[in-house]
Amino acid sequence: MLTVAPDSSVAATPTVPKTVYIETFGCQMNHADTEVVLARLEEDGWRRVTALPGANLVLYNTCAVRDHAEAKIRGRLGELRLLKAAQPGLAIGIMGCMAQREKQALIKRFPYVDLVVGTDQFVHMPQLLERVVAGETVVETAFEDFEERSWTATRSSDINAWVPVMRGCNYNCTYCVVPFTRGREKSRDPAQIEQEVRALTAKGFVQVTLLGQTIDAYGKTLGDGTTLARLLERLHAIEGLQRLRFVTSHPLDITDELLDTMARLPKVAKHLHVPAQSGSDRVLRLMGRRYTVADYLRLVERARHRMPAIELLSDFIVGFPRESDEDFAGTVALMEAVRFAGSYTFMYSQRPGTPAAHLADDVPIAVKKARCNQLLDLQLVHQGEAYRTLHGAVRQVLVEGISKSDATMLHGRSEGNLNIVLPLSDAQGRARTHLIGKIVPVRITHSTSLTLFAQPLAEA
Ligand code: SAH
Ligand code: SF4
Ligand code: F3S
Repeated sequence: MLTVAPDSSVAATPTVPKTVYIETFGCQMNHADTEVVLARLEEDGWRRVTALPGANLVLYNTCAVRDHAEAKIRGRLGELRLLKAAQPGLAIGIMGCMAQREKQALIKRFPYVDLVVGTDQFVHMPQLLERVVAGETVVETAFEDFEERSWTATRSSDINAWVPVMRGCNYNCTYCVVPFTRGREKSRDPAQIEQEVRALTAKGFVQVTLLGQTIDAYGKTLGDGTTLARLLERLHAIEGLQRLRFVTSHPLDITDELLDTMARLPKVAKHLHVPAQSGSDRVLRLMGRRYTVADYLRLVERARHRMPAIELLSDFIVGFPRESDEDFAGTVALMEAVRFAGSYTFMYSQRPGTPAAHLADDVPIAVKKARCNQLLDLQLVHQGEAYRTLHGAVRQVLVEGISKSDATMLHGRSEGNLNIVLPLSDAQGRARTHLIGKIVPVRITHSTSLTLFAQPLAEA
């Protein structure tokens, strides 16, 4: 049981400080949710700590998309058993998609967990914690509509802000837990989003990344003609905002209106993350994706026709039930035909309760691994080749900060969202930190298959 006072600022008796350790797994949506929870907790007197030993509350914001993701959380919870025994006042909370999927079952399995909070309920975290303080084991996983004020976030970057504009998913891809863990699609009111983005730019944010599971379907559920294209248009007009991105798109929801709008608006990144998942019509049908390989290739054509330099990203699942060598060869052929700027490949993981769980998970793990490695290698070849053709080219890079992997470099993103790094020091040895948060014309000098290197144009 948590031993902190419900509000330490008015506590009559001295209590343990409200310190929270929070770890986030999974997609950008989860990271954005963590920022909202932190804001709510901070309003309520909580302080974030970066190490477990100093915390009185441990929160895991979890992912359920593959078993591997859940196994990591199970591992973390296993480790906490001893810590909880040594520090009975420690509260343990699970939020996010695994919490939503497993609900009460998580408590059965890990009886020392105090709090299980679903993907819509986390906005009530301070109130839920009060119940934990009072000695209750709390499980709250109902789906609900959000009140707008719940979106205040404590942000981890001061250049780019992640802004969830819709939640949930109305597709039913047969392998996927997201419709179960995030519920039905809900779009936010565009006026509220505009207000939020205006406030962000007033604070100095120069880039906004709109988030949604199928972001290109944004607005459909509002039923008033709102579309992502119109939202982009509206946000584009905001002074101070320099770049607008959005992820992730479903191939079926990319309209000509959206492509035309992207092409026309200079601040919109020329970039689409639009997962193909497979290059076999048979497998796509089993996956419930509702498009064919030819449809996907037509989409690529429609996008490149309007934006020749657009960068396309895909996700692929290998080893879906019944995927034959021939099906897999189709995926390789699709990658060869499109040549993606980037792709993420996942080995199929059977998820309980999904329609595909009725199909035998019959591709041997060794075959899954071999197919996965083959796609990873092919992607690197494509990337390396594409990068080499860019040597000498000029790109407009929004500099986001000092590179996390190399403190002597600045990193940023091109119009097409490609990762580009430039030396932090100029020829005179002066740090170019003044470039952070600015769009800088750069010339690409060299590359590896993973990284593009550049120099600011004025100096190249
Ligand atoms: N909403 C996004 C993706 C959500 S999950 C979209 O529809 O594009 C991110 C990626 O995880 C998916 O694109 C898919 O490639 C992968 N994925 C989802 N379920 C999976 C499963 N059961 N096994 C393996 N990979 C999976
Ligand atoms: Fe999952 Fe499909 Fe929805 Fe994406 S579109 S979240 S893969 S059900
Ligand atoms: Fe994982 Fe949930 Fe995101 S399952 S990928 S955290 S929507």
